[in-house]
Amino acid sequence: MSDPRLAIIPGRFDKVKRIIAVSSGKGGVGKSMVAVALALALRDKGRVVGLLDLDFTSPSTHVILGVEGLVPHEERGITPPVTHGLHYMSIVHYSTDEPVPLRGADASNAIIELLAITRWEALDYLIIDMPPGIGDATLDMIRLIPRIEFLVVTTPSRLAYESVRKLLVLLRDQKVPTIGVLENIAMEHTEYIEAETRKTGARYVGRIDFDASVEASIGHPKELEKTKLFKRLQAIISSL
Ligand SMILES: Nc1ncnc2c1ncn2[C@@H]1O[C@H](COP(=O)(O)OP(=O)(O)OP(=O)(O)O)[C@@H](O)[C@H]1O
Ligand SMILES: [Mg+2]
Repeated sequence: MSDPRLAIIPGRFDKVKRIIAVSSGKGGVGKSMVAVALALALRDKGRVVGLLDLDFTSPSTHVILGVEGLVPHEERGITPPVTHGLHYMSIVHYSTDEPVPLRGADASNAIIELLAITRWEALDYLIIDMPPGIGDATLDMIRLIPRIEFLVVTTPSRLAYESVRKLLVLLRDQKVPTIGVLENIAMEHTEYIEAETRKTGARYVGRIDFDASVEASIGHPKELEKTKLFKRLQAIISSL
């Protein structure tokens, strides 16, 4: 029997103009930081923005935003609370920051449940902070979310890029719109990522340098907005 929730999900995004998953084949490359900064930068441009933290086992966006104890409104579904001007949904609203250990099928089930119950307002952008890797969450999102686009984050390392390349090939084969590859935490400027990205046919979106002020900004979005990472991202989004 088919899962009735699957029929509900596409309609939940009817009022959302663009849905951008910030993703990577690799962990620790700055997906969460980029997702939050991107959401804030778009908000600053006057856009109506949602942020969805889909990293159920290790959510980070609430830490970057410095928020806790938010309570979604429930009425024929869940309306995400608004914080820092962002319509914000995270498993943390329900898990009180305790570990949420989920095996494959359960993780999929949790994603389906969250997507089925969440009622997004009319948004210009929904930014999704994805868990690391090319696992179930990535495949579920491709399968379930209409019009989803991927912004792929890597570091300059070949180790990061090897897994990113696999993600790019997957997205290309599945015909999923891909905004491009964002190189983050660059310590020196090499052409490696740009050259390799172009070989896959994907767009190289730009480079964000290592920025020592990012760490101190965690929990303080106003400080995050003063970082070079944020300013660089502001420049990059004008071309998204
Ligand atoms: N441009 C940057 N300069 C300096 N530090 C950065 C930069 N981008 C991200 N970081 C730092 O790198 C670390 C990893 O970032 P983040 O948690 O956003 O990565 P992630 O890809 O979401 O990780 P995970 O795969 O675990 O979800 C964090 O400590 C973050 O503050
Ligand atoms: Mg993360």
